[in-house]
Amino acid sequence: MRKVGIIGVGEYLPKRVLTNADLEKMVDTSDEWITTRTGIKERRLASAEEATSDLALNAAKAALKDARLSAEDLDLIIVATITPDMPFPSVASILQNALGAKNAACCDISAACAGFVYALATASQFIACGTYKNALVIGAEKLSSVTDWKDRNTCVLFGDGAGACVLGEVKSGGIIASYLGCDGSNLGLLNLPAGGSRNPASLQTVEARLHYIKMQGNELFKIAVRTMTEAAEKVLKQAGLKFSDIDLIIPHQANSRIIMAVAKRLGLTEDKIFLNIEKYGNMSSASTATALVEAVKEGRIKKGDTVLLDSFGAGLVWGAAVIQW
Ligand code: COA
Repeated sequence: MRKVGIIGVGEYLPKRVLTNADLEKMVDTSDEWITTRTGIKERRLASAEEATSDLALNAAKAALKDARLSAEDLDLIIVATITPDMPFPSVASILQNALGAKNAACCDISAACAGFVYALATASQFIACGTYKNALVIGAEKLSSVTDWKDRNTCVLFGDGAGACVLGEVKSGGIIASYLGCDGSNLGLLNLPAGGSRNPASLQTVEARLHYIKMQGNELFKIAVRTMTEAAEKVLKQAGLKFSDIDLIIPHQANSRIIMAVAKRLGLTEDKIFLNIEKYGNMSSASTATALVEAVKEGRIKKGDTVLLDSFGAGLVWGAAVIQW
């Protein structure tokens, strides 16, 4: 098997910033409540003209430039998203055309906030076994399009963005372990009830506001802490490493209190945790992706470092990976 690593990274965050102070004017909330309960200070919102594929396109171009590859060098594009431009075709197909990546096979992965790690693990298998040489993996979301801006329980949490990685063969290190999982028995804790084949869009579904994210945050919080802790332990065991070997953990950015609780259970100190939730909120699949990209760009990940990705989301699904840089 070939060793597979990340050979280029890029991100795109829409320009418009929505602060907690802005939200105070929209729903019954306060900067103090949002900051202390979630760690979020502001988030980015895509414009009406920008769809998820537009966010993905900008991140993809940056990642290809960083990898010094052209779009035609790509053999595979996987976009992790729960907010595609439309039910079909896939965002990856739209992106292929926009990039001119005419040699790439394309599909989307729907694994919510764990989507980026699912996509990373999936794409890396094709390179490891020699089927493909270069793959583009993206976490991209326009969550503002499915956020109920009248529901204070959820609207303060989410944002829009995209993070991209180019995968290719490396001489040493790379993605040394990945662990994916699902427990489909808790579907009601986090979902978007209408717009699919179960509840197709109708006047009634629109009036009942069923095209927006529904979440039981309190219950999810406890499961997220337990599951992210277990996923980190399992992937590390698979990699044959100890927590003291980890230089940086890049967790899904749903809530800073969840992240700190996981870190405490794993015995990781604050300097080993990467956070960007304060600036962007929860961007589902784009959260882990942009956090990884920013950790690289900010020099928090250096050659030889061992990095742990750890994510959790609707499904309920989880995904963790260990990458040696
Ligand atoms: N502003 C002010 N008050 C708010 C509020 C807001 N934006 N949102 C909720 N509240 C209120 C609630 O109505 C509730 O009031 P009540 O006690 O009078 O009923 C109170 O705050 C506490 O609500 P609760 O839901 O228990 O708060 P919490 O401490 O659990 O924090 C979340 C809520 C959503 C921030 C937190 O549960 C969370 O992050 N959950 C996990 C999210 C997650 O992991 N998602 C999956 C991965 S994407």
